[in-house]
Amino acid sequence: MARFRIHIRAALPLILIGAAACDATPPPVGMVRGAELYETCLPCHGESAVGNAEIEAPAIAGLPQWYIEEQLLGFQQSWRGGHFQDIAGMRMRPMAISLTREGDIESVAQYVAAFEPVYPSSTLHGNAGAGAAIYNAVCVTCHGPEGLGMPELHSPPVVQLDDWYLLTQLRNFRTGARGADPENVWGVTMRANTLALSDQAMQDVIAYIQTLR
Ligand code: HEC
Ligand code: HEC
Repeated sequence: MARFRIHIRAALPLILIGAAACDATPPPVGMVRGAELYETCLPCHGESAVGNAEIEAPAIAGLPQWYIEEQLLGFQQSWRGGHFQDIAGMRMRPMAISLTREGDIESVAQYVAAFEPVYPSSTLHGNAGAGAAIYNAVCVTCHGPEGLGMPELHSPPVVQLDDWYLLTQLRNFRTGARGADPENVWGVTMRANTLALSDQAMQDVIAYIQTLR
């Protein structure tokens, strides 16, 4: 019995070390933590964040960190992906909600922003000439002459997005599945610019955006 007690006492430091290792605190906010978190994004957005059209997961590689953070917050707070007509957004929403630890949004956004942007090939057939007129009359004010966005207006770059994703988002803004929630302060400014666009006009402007690369 006495011998047994001695054994336990000798093993105690090892047990404590083991417990500490199991309960390891995650790395601090930054790329290492971002890489860890990105494991959960991989199944849909893919190895290089190029997306997967079959499940409507867009390419997100190289989007600016501030924009990714804002959108992840939007999915969490349900001003994005909370509308019943936004089927793809509803698929993304639980993933953002899973980022519960303070700083996780920042870490994973930093990690995704560090990927080289990809320029997915076209799948639609709009008229880029007609699209140029619309883009330069309407969109240029906020997304800029080269489609690179303007952080001060919270408008993201649009040149590196998939054309099918651009179309879904423009339709979402038009129906109010995105950008109609008053908490989505910047989305509301975007939505106003889609109300007058027909599907054809959308495809034309998308064809023009793809020439800006
Ligand atoms: C179950 C599949 C799935 C997983 C896992 C997933 N996403 Fe998504 N994500 C989507 C879909 C689908 C969309 C498109 C939503 C839409 O159409 O509005 C999306 C959209 C996004 C957007 C918006 C892009 C833009 O241009 O506005 C960001 C940012 C994003 N995801 C980041 C992430 C991050 C970071 C993770 C991991 C923490 C993640 N996603 C995990 C499916 C997924
Ligand atoms: C008044 C400024 C403004 C104008 C004009 C504007 N946008 Fe936007 N756009 C924004 C903002 C801000 C966002 C981000 C909205 C959010 O945070 O949900 C956005 C988002 C988008 C998105 C979604 C990008 C993504 O990654 O999900 C697309 C696509 C888009 N705009 C295309 C256009 C096109 C095409 C036009 C012209 C017809 C246009 N925008 C005109 C401000 C504008």
